[in-house]
Amino acid sequence: MHITIIGCGYVGLTTAVSLAYMGRCVHVIDQNEERIQMLRRSQPPIHEKGLEELLNQTNGRLTFGTWDSFEIKTDVVIIAVGTPSKENGDADLSYVEAVARELGQRLTPQVCDKSTSAPVIVNKSTVPIGSARRVQSIISQHLKERNIVTSISVASNPEFLREGVALHDTFYPDRIVIGSEDTQAAYTLREMYAPILEQTFSAPEFLPRPENYLLPAFIITSPTSAELIKYAANTFLAMKISYINEIAGLSEKVGADIQEVARGIGLDKRIGSQFLNAGIGWGGSCFPKDVQALIHTGEQYGYAMPLSQSAIDVNYRQREEVIKKLQSALKVLRGRTIGLLGLAFKPGTDDLRDAPAITIAERLIELGVHVKAYDPIAMENCRHIHPNLAIEYVSSSTELVNGIDALILITEWNEFIHLPYKLYGEKMRQKVILDGRNALNSQALRDAGFTYIGVGK
Ligand code: NAD
Ligand code: UDX
Repeated sequence: MHITIIGCGYVGLTTAVSLAYMGRCVHVIDQNEERIQMLRRSQPPIHEKGLEELLNQTNGRLTFGTWDSFEIKTDVVIIAVGTPSKENGDADLSYVEAVARELGQRLTPQVCDKSTSAPVIVNKSTVPIGSARRVQSIISQHLKERNIVTSISVASNPEFLREGVALHDTFYPDRIVIGSEDTQAAYTLREMYAPILEQTFSAPEFLPRPENYLLPAFIITSPTSAELIKYAANTFLAMKISYINEIAGLSEKVGADIQEVARGIGLDKRIGSQFLNAGIGWGGSCFPKDVQALIHTGEQYGYAMPLSQSAIDVNYRQREEVIKKLQSALKVLRGRTIGLLGLAFKPGTDDLRDAPAITIAERLIELGVHVKAYDPIAMENCRHIHPNLAIEYVSSSTELVNGIDALILITEWNEFIHLPYKLYGEKMRQKVILDGRNALNSQALRDAGFTYIGVGK
């Protein structure tokens, strides 16, 4: 089976590497030549655990190129380009539509059993309802202009991977959802995913099959349901975090400990313990834009979605709370130096899209604070994406703590959990630590003379 994947970001590249590892021939197309050149040298253009190792284990089945290398003999074309937020909260479909136009200008259906057959087009990008139909209509229109008569099938195949553990989630998903009204297309996609659905591949050494892992469910739905499943899933998870953050705020008022409360809640199997970590809230390339896009879809139908809107409001309040807590601990912020431990929106990635670190740094700078920061991998990205943000980047956590008035744990990288905080306290001007992820040992820090501030504790 030959597969073409458009877009070599987190989703496209992870999918490509995984399917090639499992024996499929995969060609990846991206308009970004620099990324293609890097990939040809087996260097991933994004930071994702295990990608580099797997890139070298695909035995020539994985190739890369720009649009000029588009190969018409392909069974499946997977669209995995970005769908960022527009100003009004709607998803920006311009990248997806540009791909549809390219496909309409390049596809030449193959003759097979006297009838023509075109590859199955798959929308893996997160897109609003109706997008599969929209892509189909753009491609068909271009084919018509080229006097090509064939039916094009566009399926929706939402992606549920998390950054940082993207390969793990692709190899061992809970479910694969295909939104298609074309039985043959759904069958082809089932074939494509067979190694994952049946777990017939031999697991890479660094990615063993989890104990008690159950085979993933394969669900065929209408394209509209599949498109909605993705937004509804992300909004639910975002809402779960905002809910625990709201309870964390109340815990602070009444003197409860949110980690005890979350444990007590999460043990109820109907609720579950995951995504109940209170902290400075969610960020990243998906939750913020996807919750917005879901609300926008509601608006288009005159349907208010107050729960989803509240999830956003609570989330941004968490970032503002950090400033209030620092004001309460240090009183005057102007002229202070504050250190940010971590910048990425979560550990395991250098992604800074809608990262709480950026909002917090901007607010502190506005209030006259000198902001220092250290992150093991996201600093380069931060310099590049936010060149005007007046952060002093330092090369280690030891350097970070020198002469600061407060330290904020923003990203709970493993290496930050067991730092020699006691020693660090001696280098800090004031021993104030704000643990934005409730990841540190609060008692040990208090015993070492720190003013420890958590979230909901
Ligand atoms: P990304 O920004 O990391 O990568 C997108 C890639 O597409 C880039 O390399 C870009 O150069 C390329 N591209 C854009 N337009 C193109 C065109 N016309 N032709 C060829 N290449 C083009 O994006 P991502 O994070 O992988 O996300 C892709 C989609 O998947 C989005 O809709 C996103 O919401 C969804 N998604 C992302 C994640 C995640 O964790 N990142 C998880 C699930 C779903
Ligand atoms: C998310 C979804 O989990 C994934 O299924 C989807 O495909 C893409 O969006 P991702 O954004 O990579 O994945 O990260 P995730 O692990 O979900 O974390 C999102 C944000 O929530 C992070 O900022 C993280 O710090 C925060 N979070 C997560 C919490 O604050 N508390 C939690 O309990 C869990």
